[in-house]
Order: sequence, then structure tokens, then C-alpha cells
Amino acid sequence: MPARTTIVILAAGEGTRMKSATPKVLHRIGGASLIAHVLAAASAAKPARIAVVVGPGRADVAAEVRSKVPKAGIFVQPTRRGTAHAVSMARKSFANGEDIVVVFGDTPLVRAETLRKLAAALKQAPVVVLGFRAENPTGYGRLIVEDGHLVAIREQTDTSPEEQTITLCNAGVMAISGKITRDALARIGNDNAKREFYLSDAVLVARSLGLAAIVQEASEEEVMGVNDRIQLAEAEALLQARLRTAALKGGATLIAPDTVFLSVDTKLGRDVVVEPNVVFGPGCVVEDGAKIRAFSHLEGARVGKGASVGPFARLRPGTKIGKKARVGNFVEVKAASIEAGAKANHLAYIGDGRVGADANIGAGTIFCNYDGTRKHFTDVGKDAFVGSNSALVAPVKIGKGAYVASGSVITEDVPAGALALGRGRQVNKRGWAKKARGAKLKRKVKDAD
Ligand code: UD1
Ligand code: MG
Repeated sequence: MPARTTIVILAAGEGTRMKSATPKVLHRIGGASLIAHVLAAASAAKPARIAVVVGPGRADVAAEVRSKVPKAGIFVQPTRRGTAHAVSMARKSFANGEDIVVVFGDTPLVRAETLRKLAAALKQAPVVVLGFRAENPTGYGRLIVEDGHLVAIREQTDTSPEEQTITLCNAGVMAISGKITRDALARIGNDNAKREFYLSDAVLVARSLGLAAIVQEASEEEVMGVNDRIQLAEAEALLQARLRTAALKGGATLIAPDTVFLSVDTKLGRDVVVEPNVVFGPGCVVEDGAKIRAFSHLEGARVGKGASVGPFARLRPGTKIGKKARVGNFVEVKAASIEAGAKANHLAYIGDGRVGADANIGAGTIFCNYDGTRKHFTDVGKDAFVGSNSALVAPVKIGKGAYVASGSVITEDVPAGALALGRGRQVNKRGWAKKARGAKLKRKVKDAD
């Protein structure tokens, strides 16, 4: 992107059609907020600055912006008075004559490349508008083109019936040369049906200065705006399609791609196989050759080379699965590492702990990590064997190569190489069952009398 460019992201709209307690731009697709997607595209375009305009009292939106792009300038628009008014709130971020690229916080699929191209096109004209052919243009600003020149952008509420048939629409992304930003923002009026200061009127200003405005086209998919939950779901579907294609191109096999849900930051290595119906929440990395079997749910987890997870496994944040380790059905892992070659094949909860290399966690093992107030750590040593249906009450340490008998409740550390038995001793009563059955039989005969 040309060095002196500021990207201004408008996010001061209330988004009332979402019918939500959450501001529109904090709704999520692909595991990240709408504004985070736009910020990612803006950052990748490498402008000199990024400015975000938020609504009054929107500390939550400001915090999200800060957490994603700490250097972004945050400006407040106290009342909604239109997109041009919103841009002028951020004027400090382009006070030294920087070019600006304005993009909306609710168009999450916009690509960095498009922003870059728009800024580059300022060489040809001082106003560059991103347009698209809308399947249904209702609601969008229409691009009025005469003799190949963009002469105006007409908002829906100001269009004539004839203009309503125009399908070339304003995507909302616009680049304005630093040479005219000040003039443009000062001259834009609010003589329209909504009495708002429309940024789209920058086109009129350019023309009144004897300058040209041009259109660059993008696909409708890329510039779709999210104004309600239906569009949110559409954006999610489009994003998932993009992410799945990228995963396949990167060398992962998705047996039924349409059933696999990815996050924007999901990283799948080569020869990873993902079976149907798997969900990847934010923060997952799956290394080469690992297999994620059907119906597994992963978040904040790293799966090592050649490891196998699922079917029906749940990996929660802070999980690390080592090389060739195996986590089987109905196993939940949280903030724990299962080191190389270790196994937890069935029905277990492994929370806040470590399972050393090649150790075995039997079916039904529970790491009792929570005492009602605090979480504690369980450490299972290399090559240890934890028998089925054991409860390891943290904090506790099972030494290297130690053996825990099935059904134990382990409350004390087990030394390396030892056997721990933490259960009631079995008692066998000889002949008891036979006698009991005999008595029952006698009672039955009596009842029949
Ligand atoms: C806008 C465009 C329209 C375009 C459409 C594409 C204008 C005037 N209209 O219409 O030409 O076809 O997007 O989706 O630019 N905002 C503020 N402060 C304000 C007003 C708006 O921050 O005072 C923000 C909103 O949060 C939103 C964006 O600007 O992110 C666009 O506003 P919105 O009301 O959604 O405009 P549209 O009617 O969609
Ligand atoms: Mg909109």
C-alpha cells in the first residue's frame, strides 16, 4: 500500500437489525469478530495507520480493536450523523495529507489485496469507489455512471424508480486522495432523505472540483455487509468455504469438507486427515500427518505429528497432544499436555496436567483438578500406567513407570515404579450366592401355595 495511507474503519453503527445485546461488529464468524476480520485485512494491506470509529460508550468494541491491533487509533462518533461525519471523527489520523481508504466494520470478507488495489488506483483519480454487481441491489447505494464516468452515488432512499434498476452498487469501500480529503469532508452536505452526511457524496465533490471519480469492481461475496443474522450466517458460510478450500490446497484431506468448521487461524499441516463433523474453534494447530476423527471438537489445541484424536473427543484450550499420541472417544482434555506416544483411548477427563511420554490412561480415568475453589495439577510420569476408572485427586504426582490399580482414588503421590492401590479390598464369601438362591426358591414355593 502507498506509504502515506490511513485505513479508516467505520464501526459506529448500532446494528439494530441484529436484535442483540452485543454490538454488531463483535458478532463472530470463523471464530473471530467481524471487526477482527476487517482489522486483519487492513493490517495485511500495510497502511501507515489504521483508525477505527466507534459509537459512544463502546468500550467493548474499543477493547477488541486494541487487542487485535494495539497501534490502531480509536475515535468516537458521539451521534450517528452519516458515514462522512464518522470519517471526519478520525481526521487526526490523516491530518498530514494522507490518502484514506474507508472500509466498514461490517464487511468481514473484504481482502487486503482489494484495499491495496484501491489505494493504488488513486494514481488515476482522487476518488476510487469499490463497486459490485448486486444480485438484488435493494438497499445499496447505486453507482450512477454516465459516458463511462462515475457521476454520483445515490442512496436507496434517494433513488428514482429508474435508478432502482441499476445493479452496479457501492460496496462502501472508498479511497480518497489526501489532496482532497479535507475539502471533500468539508463540502459534503446532508441534503438527502436521511439528513446524513454521506461519504458516497465525495464523488459529487470531486466532480465539482473538476476531478474524476472511478470505480473498481469486486465480487458481491467479498463485499457483502452483515446487517442481520441472516447475513451473518451467509458470511459464515462464505468464509467457511474459503477456509476449507485453503485447507485442501494446503495439503489436508477433509473427507466431507462441508461438515468441517474451521476458524480463521486454524492451521492444518500436510497429510492431516479430518473426518466428517469436526469443529475447530480458535487457536488450533494440527501438525503433519495427524488424524482428527469424526465428531471431535477442538479449541486452543495443538495436535502433534501423526497423533490421532477422536472420534468424539473434546480438546479444550491449553491442550497439547504430542507426536503419535492417541486420544480416543469421549475423552476431554483441558490445559494439559499428553506427551509423545501416550494414550488415553476412552472415556476420560484430563484437566490441568501432564501425561508423560508413552504413559497409558485407562478408560474412565478422571483428573480431579478442582477442589471447589482452585485448580490443581496432576503429573503422570513417562511410561506410567493408570488403570481404568481411577480418580487422581490433584495436586498429585504419579512417578515414572508407576502403576495405578483400576478403580483407585489416588490422593497421595505414587513413587516411580511403584504400584498404588487406592480402593476397598475385595471380600469373597464362599457359598453365599448358592445359599441365597436356595432361600429365594423356598420362598417362591411358599408364595404359590
Ligand atoms: C452504505 C453506503 C451505501 C453502500 C452500502 C454497502 C453510505 C452513505 N452508504 O449504506 O452506498 O451501498 O453501505 O453496504 O456510505 N456508520 C458510522 N456512523 C454513521 C453512519 C454509519 O460509523 O454515522 C458506519 C456503520 O457502522 C456501518 C457503515 O458506516 O459500518 C455503513 O453504514 P450503514 O448504515 O450500514 O450504511 P448502509 O445503508 O449500509
Ligand atoms: Mg450497512
